[in-house]
Amino acid sequence: MKFFPKLILLASLCSSVVWAQSPFMAAASAAKSESQDVWWKHAVIYEIYPRSFQDSNGDGIGDLNGITERLDYLQSLGVDAIWLTPIYPSPQVDFGYDISDYEAIDPPYGTMADFDRLLAEAKKRNIRIIMDMVMNHTSDKHPWFIESKSSRNNPKRDWYVWRDGKGPGIPPNNWESVFGHTAWKYDPTTNQWYYHKFYAEQPDLNWRNPEVEKAMFGAVRFWLDRGVAGFRLDAIPTLFEDPQLRDARPVGGTNAYGDPILDDTYTDNLPEVHDVMRRLRALVASYPGNRVLIGETYLPNIQELDKWYGGASHNELNLPMDMQIGFTNKLDANLFRQRIQEVETKVHDNQPLIVFDNHDNIRSWNRYGDGVHDDEIARVLAAMLFTVRGTAMMYYGEELGMVTTPPARVEDVKDPIGKIGWPKEKGRDGERTPMQWSDSKDAGFSTAAATWLPVAPDYKTVNVQSEQADPNSMLNWYKKLIEMRRSNPALHDGSLIMLDKSNPNVLSYLRKAPAGSPSVIVSLNFTAQPQNVSLDLAGTGVAGNTVKTLLTDASALQSTTSLNHIELPPFASWIASVQ
Ligand code: GLC
Ligand code: CA
Repeated sequence: MKFFPKLILLASLCSSVVWAQSPFMAAASAAKSESQDVWWKHAVIYEIYPRSFQDSNGDGIGDLNGITERLDYLQSLGVDAIWLTPIYPSPQVDFGYDISDYEAIDPPYGTMADFDRLLAEAKKRNIRIIMDMVMNHTSDKHPWFIESKSSRNNPKRDWYVWRDGKGPGIPPNNWESVFGHTAWKYDPTTNQWYYHKFYAEQPDLNWRNPEVEKAMFGAVRFWLDRGVAGFRLDAIPTLFEDPQLRDARPVGGTNAYGDPILDDTYTDNLPEVHDVMRRLRALVASYPGNRVLIGETYLPNIQELDKWYGGASHNELNLPMDMQIGFTNKLDANLFRQRIQEVETKVHDNQPLIVFDNHDNIRSWNRYGDGVHDDEIARVLAAMLFTVRGTAMMYYGEELGMVTTPPARVEDVKDPIGKIGWPKEKGRDGERTPMQWSDSKDAGFSTAAATWLPVAPDYKTVNVQSEQADPNSMLNWYKKLIEMRRSNPALHDGSLIMLDKSNPNVLSYLRKAPAGSPSVIVSLNFTAQPQNVSLDLAGTGVAGNTVKTLLTDASALQSTTSLNHIELPPFASWIASVQ
């Protein structure tokens, strides 16, 4: 199993904690003054892994100018915003998540002028840019850490988490890195250990020191001043650790690295992080244009997710990611229905952010696919992603049906966890292969003799060029869904009401339109068998006399005009207007 699903598992074992709930006035009033109809509530946010999207200068590494070249494509797909994984200067141990300067661009990706041009060109196409902000840790090559490490009484010593060992060669406690083995690294110069939740090259910042917040908020301002639309906050529940450094309790079993699995109460999701989030929200909300705060929030349940919005106070993140829907890895209509209902009803009218794919997990194609109907399954999941009420997040190549292609040999692994955990954990290279643009050399991604990761072997058929030409391709399915979500008033603004709620095979729901527009019905068959459904709109306030198919991937459903007998072929999606 991959590393992130494991986090969910660990989180679900946590005991409950007491959370600070006091409203932070500045953020609350800022939130109120925001328009009710902000752009990100209807957005499709497209995650780009810049290294793998488009190489413009032939060095085998994707770059900013490459992204700029492809903006027309993103516009035609219907994307509202791009989230760029980190492009800052970095030794690239964790491919950018180890940052050595928060206010510059890493030269392989281009220059600040290239960045400004990307921002401006994107703006012309109504596409916003969201930056990745890594606040839990820096690179060990960041000047802050170099200073901190230089002596015990350096003014920056306390910017990181330094402690004495329990004895010679014995770390301060039993905490483990998410990336395997102890989370402490010994520094012989000062004879102390520093804490790293991720790689040893990613020392954790000490958020109990107010100077750290000041410095990091300075970086946030730097990018807001340049015009970015917001941030995706990396590993945000990990900012704080137990000040007493209590040992974590083993919960039984070992992980892919052979380490005992530990309870993460003392290292994850500590209540203090919410005070920082309220202050950050107030800062971001002080800028015009409805900037957005998105969180990488793997959490055990909906109650925890609600806290990341600030609950009823709406004063923390705008869009903490809901990982409860997209990462169940089970094609289970009941489970999807239950999880969608939860985010509909248990987060104080905050906005759901639904996501199935990212650069850390095996692609949903493989996680949900049964090996026989993978394409059909990917289509039905896309129909759900774009028609439920929520902000939709997607990952480059998802729209093509790109698959996970893990390295075949340990010598080829680039992501260090694939080396540490081989063969159980092959790392994340498999979901980071170059974007497949065409059937030409390097799939049109690059002209280099060798690309930083090899292009997946299916690029001859799975690529933008060939899918653009095929009306029934995955790409065109995505385009149609996104276009419909944008233009149809019920999908754009309607509330969501579940229908046929005890059906274990088919997920059906109504998107109830604002007055004057037809409502929309969505019915999704999650099985390999045909399913008959009969949908009853009683109690929904929608009459249901006239039914008209708007979009389906099953031609037999084109002519459906009644809600009483809908015969859904295997894995079919049916979207219809009703009034
Ligand atoms: C986040 C990123 C992941 C990275 C880790 C450490 O989970 O998504 O790619 O390795 O944080 O920064
Ligand atoms: Ca390049």
